[in-house]
Amino acid sequence: MMSNKVRIADLKDHVGKIVTLAGWLYNSRSSGKLIFLILRDGTGLCQCIVEKTAISPELFDDLAHLGQESSLAVTGTVRKEERSVGGYELAVASAEVVGRSVDYPITPKSHGIDFLMKSRHLHLRSQRQWAIGKVRHTVIDAIRRFFNDNGFTLIDTPIFTTMAGEGEQTLFSVDYFGMPVSLTQTGQLHLECAAMSYGKVYCFGPTFRAEKSKTRRHLTEFWMVEPEVAYMDLPGLLELAENFVSSVVARVLKDNRAELELLGADIAGLEKVTPPFNRITYSDAVDTLRGEAVQKFLASQLESLKSQRRAAQDKIAALEAEQSQPGTKQWRKDKLAAEVIDLRSDIAELDARIENNPAHAQLAAEFAWGKDLGGSDETIISLMHEKPVFVTHYPREAKAFYMRQDRKDGRVVENFDLLAPQGFGEVIGGSAREDDYDRLLARIQEEGYDPAGYQWYLDLRRYGSVPHGGFGLGIERTVAWITGEKHIRQCIAFPRMMEKINI
Ligand code: 4AD
Ligand code: MG
Repeated sequence: MMSNKVRIADLKDHVGKIVTLAGWLYNSRSSGKLIFLILRDGTGLCQCIVEKTAISPELFDDLAHLGQESSLAVTGTVRKEERSVGGYELAVASAEVVGRSVDYPITPKSHGIDFLMKSRHLHLRSQRQWAIGKVRHTVIDAIRRFFNDNGFTLIDTPIFTTMAGEGEQTLFSVDYFGMPVSLTQTGQLHLECAAMSYGKVYCFGPTFRAEKSKTRRHLTEFWMVEPEVAYMDLPGLLELAENFVSSVVARVLKDNRAELELLGADIAGLEKVTPPFNRITYSDAVDTLRGEAVQKFLASQLESLKSQRRAAQDKIAALEAEQSQPGTKQWRKDKLAAEVIDLRSDIAELDARIENNPAHAQLAAEFAWGKDLGGSDETIISLMHEKPVFVTHYPREAKAFYMRQDRKDGRVVENFDLLAPQGFGEVIGGSAREDDYDRLLARIQEEGYDPAGYQWYLDLRRYGSVPHGGFGLGIERTVAWITGEKHIRQCIAFPRMMEKINI
């Protein structure tokens, strides 16, 4: 029966032939003489049409009542059908139920996010999650391709560590044979050692931060790719970062257009992601935040949010009217109900932004030079740009100890954050590294760290120190930005957050 098994994505090569598809029942409806089974197999969706006369009455009856997500194999003739999902259909000649599924808990109607998070093991099968996972796969492949093709050597840095790369407040501690150690926040410090051996290196792995914040931008376990380059300065790093990010976005546009469309991603916006990106300094950003233009911008944002809210409400009223019309089919009602739930969650999101708008305006107006940019400040700056924007030269005290002090203006460091456009905010953090032994030691002491623990790191500045630097790009934030997904928890198969560790 499985003799000519093909994948749905390959149906175009089998038109007119008899093939077997093996997958799961995504959705179905029947009309007495016909059953329409929508099958998914991990490569796409295909409508399989079962005519009552084509199979035994028992099997017809069985298929007509088969539960969502039952696994099955169907054999039949492939037809081209523009109007059908995926563009092809299968005229079924025989079918075999492999594993039944009764009362599948996630129906085509929408569910609240808490329920979906608890049902993550099943929710991964949804079209949206599937598409995000496909984009993530491409992003990761494109990242490796970029560095491998550009002379970088992959170095796997350790996960158990005794050092705080990014501040002690977010360290996860682990009992290591009675000694307290931490899960790594970054591979950077070890990577710097490797850069002095290979020149250009990168690491790519999971990193851990005990983030107590419940924002849409923070996970406690996330994946980060970090390149590190010897003989490198800040302008060179910005150039590397913009070429790198542009190549990743271009690959997704090329390989995952269908997924981006399904997700409603901003394809036109992504097509603008080409070098050069915008460049501003932290001090420029502060002037902007405190300026008149931002207040005007936020006021017009508020108007636009309110009008989006009105539009969503009108849409809900229209959908509900259609739902209650006599003669609306059940599957259509389900679809309308799902849209209403999605719109309600959009409205909740809009309400939060409407409510926060005045506070964000005030924070911006009163922003004091010296503070790190907060989430809302980043959002404002990033909303004001259509392309990604580099913010460089942050105040020394707001940033990590290893960042190179600017020799012309000692108040700032030679660092950058890359903010994705249209409100997404930071996707990369990076810097030139302090390459002077005395300055680095002073910074370590200033932070209150024990220099004894940093001897090997200081050694790099003793034995052939060179200007060098690198950056880290967060995978989930990048996938969220590219797919237009609001919350990064949807951009990793099994997210870890302060309040979510169960599945
Ligand atoms: O800006 P961060 O903290 O930089 C570093 O870790 C440097 N050591 C990198 C380097 O220079 N080699 O983190 C880098 C990126 C952020 O821009 C963000 O994309 C992501 O990692 N990130 C997080 N993603 C999800 N959840 C969190 N809690 C994150 N914290 C940082
Ligand atoms: Mg950062």
